[in-house]
Amino acid sequence: MTGTAELDAAIAGAHGELIALRRELHQHPELSRHEFGTTRKLAERLSALGLEVHVRPEGIGLYADLTPAGFSPATHRTVAVRADIDALPIVEATALPYASQNVGVMHACGHDMHTACAMGVAVGLVQLRDQLPGRVRFFFQHSEEVAPGGADELVAFGCMEGVDYVLGLHVDPVLEVGNIGIKDGPMTASADAFELVVRGRGGHAARPHHCVDPVFVATQIATGLYQAAGRAFDARDPVVISIASVVAGDGFNVIPDTATLRGTVRTLSADTRQEVVPLFRRLAAGVCGTYGAEYDLEMYLGAPSISNDAEVAAHMRAAAREVLGPESLYEIPLPSMGAEDFSYYLERAPGAMFRLGTKGHDGEEHFLHSPRFAPDERALAIGSRILARAALSLLSST
Ligand code: NI
Repeated sequence: MTGTAELDAAIAGAHGELIALRRELHQHPELSRHEFGTTRKLAERLSALGLEVHVRPEGIGLYADLTPAGFSPATHRTVAVRADIDALPIVEATALPYASQNVGVMHACGHDMHTACAMGVAVGLVQLRDQLPGRVRFFFQHSEEVAPGGADELVAFGCMEGVDYVLGLHVDPVLEVGNIGIKDGPMTASADAFELVVRGRGGHAARPHHCVDPVFVATQIATGLYQAAGRAFDARDPVVISIASVVAGDGFNVIPDTATLRGTVRTLSADTRQEVVPLFRRLAAGVCGTYGAEYDLEMYLGAPSISNDAEVAAHMRAAAREVLGPESLYEIPLPSMGAEDFSYYLERAPGAMFRLGTKGHDGEEHFLHSPRFAPDERALAIGSRILARAALSLLSST
């Protein structure tokens, strides 16, 4: 492929700058829905590089185009590279010289790394601007950590119009720096939140037969939900139902009027996801009907599952082989039941996301969302080079 030597040289030359950008973001993290400063900073840098920047009118989240001369949507492709930019409500405990200065907010999911990697792709590909075989669009997406999140909003803002492929990455603190993890097909799960309120009739704990005990009814429903995986749902297609909050009453001897269960349901397939609400309703209606209670169910739909396109993943593998060698490829055996709103882009165009190893060779392992999370910055240029090569090869493939 033409241009890869210049590309590597440009990204290698910018590595110090990418580390500086990542540290600057790390020192000034912003929570989901508040990424105003980050968005402004990125918009300035991208404009200075000569990209055409589109900031959402709300001031958080943007996309930017790197368009070669003579580009025509009829004959050329567009590949998008996505980074997320928000941080988490965590008090940083790394003691690094560039630790968060915004106390209580921390880039503990590596979105500062993702942002710097995508900026590295822009810095590298700008050098090849007029040799580019198509257009490259960059998503700097706000609010990945919350639902409803930023991906859906950036799509509504038009970021996917004309896009043929989408590329993304996520840091992986368990995988050593110099390796990437990748997988065809399901990569993450959908995650939908629920709130189920069981309404009974309270009274004296000595005489539950005079009451309709919502705690008892809710626990029967909870047990039914836990048993549904593998019984009501096909055991070969995972469903993870977790009840994370149980709220009812506050005395020792008073049966309350209501009991509330809150939690999440995660699935890999869209078909199984469709079956969740009917199952909840059948179960709640059956148990409540038996004991004379009533229920209200609210479902809050989160991100769908990510399914990596095999062709796009093949371009990522080829890029990683060139950058890191064949032994650096880790084939992820099973999908994560966590969720990622990258999936909203994949509803509109094929794409893939890989895991970028960020565990230091002698560093301790600190998981994502840990207050001691500290990725190895050598991964920055690696992530940039793989994304940039995969984008170039997708633009030029026939
Ligand atoms: Ni993340």
